[in-house]
Amino acid sequence: MSRYALLLAPYANRVYADQAPRLATAELAAFGVALDGSAGISDISVMSLGGVDYLSFDASLSARDIAYVSNLSSAYALFERVDDELLRPVGLTPLARYDSDLITIPKYAGKTNEQFTKLVLNLTLLASGSASRMLDGGITVLDPLCGRGTTLNQALMYGYDAIGVEIDGKDVEAYKLFLQTWLKRKRLKHSADLVPVRRQGRRAARRLEVTMAASKDDHKAGAVQKLVVLQADTTQLDGLLRGGVADVLVTDLPYGVAHGSYDDGGGISRSPLDLLERAMPQWLPLLRPGGAIGLSWNLKVAKRELAEDILIANGLEIVRHEPLDHRVDQGIERDVVVARKVG
Ligand SMILES: C[S@@+](CC[C@H](N)C(=O)[O-])C[C@H]1O[C@@H](n2cnc3c(N)ncnc32)[C@H](O)[C@@H]1O
Repeated sequence: MSRYALLLAPYANRVYADQAPRLATAELAAFGVALDGSAGISDISVMSLGGVDYLSFDASLSARDIAYVSNLSSAYALFERVDDELLRPVGLTPLARYDSDLITIPKYAGKTNEQFTKLVLNLTLLASGSASRMLDGGITVLDPLCGRGTTLNQALMYGYDAIGVEIDGKDVEAYKLFLQTWLKRKRLKHSADLVPVRRQGRRAARRLEVTMAASKDDHKAGAVQKLVVLQADTTQLDGLLRGGVADVLVTDLPYGVAHGSYDDGGGISRSPLDLLERAMPQWLPLLRPGGAIGLSWNLKVAKRELAEDILIANGLEIVRHEPLDHRVDQGIERDVVVARKVG
């Protein structure tokens, strides 16, 4: 067993940074389930060395374990502690199929913080039947309220396929433009098409289909990643997506502040949980058995118990973590709930 010290990434967002060590503690504990060492990760605490905060923990990390922990959303550098005084660097080997600007360039009102998005994706993957395959690819991530694609980009970064649903056509168009421009600038082989989808003779949605590869060789070998974004109402997905397409569902519910959730009549409803209640019957069939759901929402407009009740009423099992609630700004106090599809 060794003692490790993990240096957390400095954050652009001060509000989130203040709470990062606590969130990282909960996230690191969740990584324990996927590690080779049966003892997992223990004694996680925040410690200060030379005036800098580190997350300290005990573990016996194999190379594969280090590859897992390297994906912690706030990981910056890892050290093994020697004689409690010295730090020996341990190289991190994160899943990073593309340059990091795929994730960091997009900036727009309503964007979900990218480190936080990665944290929720990680917790959901680790709670799912795909936890043991996290490093191996072949996973599909669904974000059924995808905005301009923060979750989808993180899934692509991990080498996964991604599916999004977004009601706002401007968001879908802006995402297509960003992705196409980025892929062209990086000289990566791809195709991107936005086409109408008809249901019972009427236009029901638009579908953005992107195929991309990380290199020319990958493209030649057919090792491509697929991304689909439907411009549609997430509560009316009948027939638009195949059942069991996704291994995990990760989404940030509308905050009920600046941008609400659209109801059937096109009006704005303030409670994201009304939307969740109506959407769950549409979302669940899209998840494979063993799949997991990770949701974040604004505690100021909807209590945690109510969010959990909706998931439990739909037959899901809540996966417990250390507290993950945190303040985003005056109007938003965000929390996370992760649940597993059982049976
Ligand atoms: C909190 S934002 C998600 C932001 C996203 N994670 C990002 O970083 O771009 C919630 C999104 O849900 C979308 N939305 C609200 N109601 C919807 C509905 N009924 N169907 C599909 N999308 C909906 C909103 O347009 C908004 O883009």
